[in-house]
Amino acid sequence: MKLLTYFYKKSAFFFKKKINVDREKLNFESLDELFTYYGTDKAKKVKNPYSKNSDLFVGHGYSKFYEKHLEFSKNDNFNLLEIGTWYGASSASFCKYFPNAKIFGLDKNFKFKYKSKNIIFIQCDIRTKYGLEKLKSRIHGKKFKVIIDDGSHILTHIIKNIFFFINYIEKGGYFIIEDFNLPKNYSYLNDASNEEIFIDEIFKNILRKKYFKSKILSKDKQKYLFELIENIYIYKGNNKDSDIAFLKIK
Ligand SMILES: C[S@@+](CC[C@H](N)C(=O)[O-])C[C@H]1O[C@@H](n2cnc3c(N)ncnc32)[C@H](O)[C@@H]1O
Repeated sequence: MKLLTYFYKKSAFFFKKKINVDREKLNFESLDELFTYYGTDKAKKVKNPYSKNSDLFVGHGYSKFYEKHLEFSKNDNFNLLEIGTWYGASSASFCKYFPNAKIFGLDKNFKFKYKSKNIIFIQCDIRTKYGLEKLKSRIHGKKFKVIIDDGSHILTHIIKNIFFFINYIEKGGYFIIEDFNLPKNYSYLNDASNEEIFIDEIFKNILRKKYFKSKILSKDKQKYLFELIENIYIYKGNNKDSDIAFLKIK
């Protein structure tokens, strides 16, 4: 039955009419305007993506941090991958902002509603063996300047994602984690039963190259991260839960 539902959703997705981003003539200069236009909560102000017919509300306000680190690469030819696309608002925005980049997006659901010659959507649940293998085969041999984790925001998932995805980032690139304090502030996102420290503490330890208690990140894995990560830039966005980190890779 599960398999049947999956194939039904997959074929419905295949035939679904999608918005062609390449045909949209927009005059926006900034990433924030694009985030607002397409409706991702990465914007300063956005229509509530979680409730239709809403007025503009305050989003995370992450645009300025993205621009600070990536504006100089605006016209470069590179790969960007986002974990967790939902409807694809951020993928569409990045596609317009970085006209020469390939924008990869993955999600376990089939809600993605955009298409472009530069957008590659990969439907996969990265917490399943099958989903991860599917992803690996689609990104095999590729390196990314930017990988963004805006997925489940569950503590053990974030920690596993850091170690898995960091290997796909090119020299000088970034692994970006959005809303990284959510598991600290909402117990339903903390699935580690006190066996893992929170993400902000992991960052502090990585920067000090100090080993820490973790079932997921063995001492060897931590050593690897100490060697690979050049710096971690942490910013506070507009809201209580708006915390974003840019892990710069050596
Ligand atoms: C916060 S939404 C993404 C919002 C989007 N990045 C934006 O800016 O509009 C999180 C997404 O992560 C996806 N997700 C959660 N767990 C996942 C998993 N294990 N594998 C793939 N996608 C996952 C959810 O389906 C959801 O669409």
